[in-house]
Amino acid sequence: NKRVKIKDLLSDDFLDKQVDIMGWVRTKRSNKNVSFIAMNDGSTIKNFQVVADPNQIEDETLRRATTGACLKISGKIVASQGAGQQAELLAEKIEVLGDADPEKYPLQPKKHSLEFLREIAHLRVRTNTFGAVFRVRHALAYAVHKYFNDKGFFYIHTPIITASDAEGAGETFKVTTLDLKNPPLDDQGNIDYKQDFFERETNLTVSGQLEGELAAMGLAEIYTFGPTFRAENSNTTRHLAEFWMIEPEMAFYDAEDNQDLAEDFLKYIISYALENCQDDLEFLDKRAQEEESNKKAEQRAEMGLLERLRFVVDNKFERLTYTEAIDVLKNSNPNKKKKFQYLIEEWGADLQSEHERYLVEKHFKKPVILTDYPKDIKAFYMRQNDDGKTVAAMDILFPGIGEIIGGSQREERLDKLTQRMEEMDIPQEEMWWYLDTRRFGSTPHAGFGLGFERMVLFVTGMGNIRDVIAFPRTPGNAEF
Ligand code: 4AD
Ligand code: MG
Repeated sequence: NKRVKIKDLLSDDFLDKQVDIMGWVRTKRSNKNVSFIAMNDGSTIKNFQVVADPNQIEDETLRRATTGACLKISGKIVASQGAGQQAELLAEKIEVLGDADPEKYPLQPKKHSLEFLREIAHLRVRTNTFGAVFRVRHALAYAVHKYFNDKGFFYIHTPIITASDAEGAGETFKVTTLDLKNPPLDDQGNIDYKQDFFERETNLTVSGQLEGELAAMGLAEIYTFGPTFRAENSNTTRHLAEFWMIEPEMAFYDAEDNQDLAEDFLKYIISYALENCQDDLEFLDKRAQEEESNKKAEQRAEMGLLERLRFVVDNKFERLTYTEAIDVLKNSNPNKKKKFQYLIEEWGADLQSEHERYLVEKHFKKPVILTDYPKDIKAFYMRQNDDGKTVAAMDILFPGIGEIIGGSQREERLDKLTQRMEEMDIPQEEMWWYLDTRRFGSTPHAGFGLGFERMVLFVTGMGNIRDVIAFPRTPGNAEF
């Protein structure tokens, strides 16, 4: 296989060399004397121009080289006559690896709506936009591993099937092998999960954190990067039922160390994409500009995509407590305009996405780290502050995205933890293994979770989380 990738053809000198390329036809323009075929092989957003002389290549083959067809083309790299590209491939032989009947192939060389492309998610990776998104997604995933590896963190694989609900929100997908039409029943007439595969009730994990904490109590600094599942019925542009989460967990870190790490980490992976995905990000920047120009002037983002990414990397995030944020929100609506009537009146309520967006996009105009939330709106494992009302939580809010990270310093004191679990009705017997970490060699520790797709959304400038994962799982959608 002498296949040369288009990315390499464009970056190295192949002039006068004999090569094979393989890829998909994006467009073909023909006249009597010559055909120009724009080929894409996924290695780069850029197409490579192939020149086919009808005296050299059979008519039938050229006829079959339609948009979407897969071709192997052998020939010589020559200097390009036209503008735009330095070199082009003079075809000596074209082999049609797979036809794409133009009457039936859904992806024609025109602009398709993202909604339409979502319905053909099995083919959309062949478009410029999705090629770019998935290459950037890949680069970000790589940057995540590189960041933590360079810092000496260990990658832990936490289980997908579990018996716990770390966040305690009750939004789990059940896992069972029982025949639920005719389940075995116990003495009380309830489904007898003792007879299930794991001899207990199980579900898909909502977070790898609890197991991550166990690992950090021996390896000190670890991270997870895996799929997590939430059966929350939220049909929004920011929620998936199956999403990937990165969860570092660090022994000996306090809340501030946690914030410092999170900020440094976010800046690192964004910089990595800026440095390594230039072509794709330039393309996505233009795409985002087009989208913006369709919006009403007052709804347009103040910065372009690349500008926004650089801004986040270059500026310190704003840090403030929940209580301070409530004051900002209260003062944001001095005239009590109707639009903001529902703004926090009362300390203790959870922030809605409108509030988060106000803080990030209108007030501070930069990423915000919000800390020390009321304990009643946060999970049981967060460390209680001395005021008795708040916990050492942190959420990081990003422009255009809202919450991108949730994390906290953990409650390492056994008595405080069990007391909180009691208050929140969390069965301690079932969590004996978790409590053991506080019984034996406990130490202050902290961690956070980054929603990977929300990060990909931010970096690609796409508007809907369904468009940054290859096969989105959302309410009603699990076809392919
Ligand atoms: O804030 P969350 O629920 O925090 C946790 O799961 C903690 N156990 C993390 C930790 O401390 N180790 O979720 C973390 C992040 C959110 O900030 C958000 O970015 C993302 O996960 N997220 C989702 N992303 C897509 N779809 C959903 N349904 C999401 N739910 C949360
Ligand atoms: Mg959260």
